[in-house]
Amino acid sequence: MVDLSKFKATGRASCFHGRHIAPQIYAGLDGTNWRLADYVARGGYAALRKVLGKDGGAGMTPEAVIAEIKLSGLRGRGGAGFPTGLKWTFMPRPAPVKYLVCNSDEGEPGTCKDRDLLRFNPHLVIEGMAIAAYATNVRTAYNYIHGEIFEVYERFEEALDEARAAGCLGEHILGSDFAFQLHAHHGMGAYICGEETGLLESLEGKKGQPRFKPPFPASVGLYNKPTTVNNTETFAAVPWIVNHGGQAYLDVGKPNNGGTKIFSVVGDVNAPGNFEIPLGTPFATLLELAGGVRGGALKAVIPGGSSAPVLPGATMMDLTMDYDAIAKAGSMLGSGAVIVMNDTRCMVKSLMRLSYFYQHESCGQCTPCREGTGWLWRIVQRIEHGKGRQEDLDLLDSVAGNIIGRTICALGDAAAMPVQGMLRHFRDEFAWHVEHKTCKVAQYV
Ligand SMILES: Cc1cc2nc3c(=O)[nH]c(=O)nc-3n(C[C@H](O)[C@H](O)[C@H](O)COP(=O)(O)O)c2cc1C
Repeated sequence: MVDLSKFKATGRASCFHGRHIAPQIYAGLDGTNWRLADYVARGGYAALRKVLGKDGGAGMTPEAVIAEIKLSGLRGRGGAGFPTGLKWTFMPRPAPVKYLVCNSDEGEPGTCKDRDLLRFNPHLVIEGMAIAAYATNVRTAYNYIHGEIFEVYERFEEALDEARAAGCLGEHILGSDFAFQLHAHHGMGAYICGEETGLLESLEGKKGQPRFKPPFPASVGLYNKPTTVNNTETFAAVPWIVNHGGQAYLDVGKPNNGGTKIFSVVGDVNAPGNFEIPLGTPFATLLELAGGVRGGALKAVIPGGSSAPVLPGATMMDLTMDYDAIAKAGSMLGSGAVIVMNDTRCMVKSLMRLSYFYQHESCGQCTPCREGTGWLWRIVQRIEHGKGRQEDLDLLDSVAGNIIGRTICALGDAAAMPVQGMLRHFRDEFAWHVEHKTCKVAQYV
């Protein structure tokens, strides 16, 4: 048995600070009540019962479930924000073998929400996946869990055992004709295995190298069968929608941005953690929930995980946290990791660290990514080390521009976008660094 008490320690990003707004996913959690009995006591598996018509209701057809998900405005929580209901319609209905895959790889730097979900509310994900399987006529599913987090995998396995024993998974679920098997898979611990086709390769036991698209997983996915891949948090949103209706979910957020979203607020804040808030909540409110800026004034924010372009702090203070507002400002909501930087942060050094990550994680399949990510890192590194040239700024722009859109998967874009964002908003700091061969900011904390 894993001792989870250490995860409740203050200072570690978690969700037990109680600072959420209208939580749906974290509602009622205290860090210990993850077991099936606790989940059922908070109303768990009622949505699956409703869908299967087990509480005296008529049940719901798969089409009716998908219609509610579409109405809800739920957008994929894994990064791209693709409409979930629409995605569920892409798989051919009559195919004899189809798969559902939960993407719990969570490798995006700054993001730590999915592991908390699996640690502290695993049955919510299981229930969401069972409903998704019912809606898409799937009988077998996998949850691909990040390879470097062992106790989360073990916890999820325990929850699966409980669900199987209670008849929430397996044959004749809750006494119905619906059969659904769900298995956990411990991943390979590489960032690229979070990209959905790299994930599918890895799940098949191969090197996690992304596939060419098209064909998309909905037609040729796991073992060449139609497959739907969704993020952990996406599945976790499903039971609430079924219980309360798509319109109620949409009403919680704002148009085109339904429901709540979990943000992992990290970096220079006094109280880092996972915060669940309605989409459309002002960034200023989220920052306040995270205890405000630590160690200086707000300088910049990376609003959606390390691959999202940075935005100046002043810009962020005028924005709301939703897909459309952040995109309009030139960045993206991505995975929901909000990296806060105070005014002692050197942007050159920050970018050097980000670029190191991407060149290290590039799978090496595509030349622009394999070579380009290394070039980006080396150029930023030489600027940081006082050996930069003014031409390097244009060179960075040019290398980044030549990676974007020219690779099999979006890891190349993820490496290039932070470079473009930094140069767009903090070019003068890079130029200053080249000229003075040192940081513009006075010190680090
Ligand atoms: C390099 C890379 C890494 C990714 N990592 C993750 C990840 O860790 N978790 C995730 O859900 N999606 C990740 N994605 C996005 C997935 O490819 C996919 O879009 C997502 O799982 C779809 O789920 P959703 O529609 O519910 O968001 C990654 C994409 C790229 C390009």
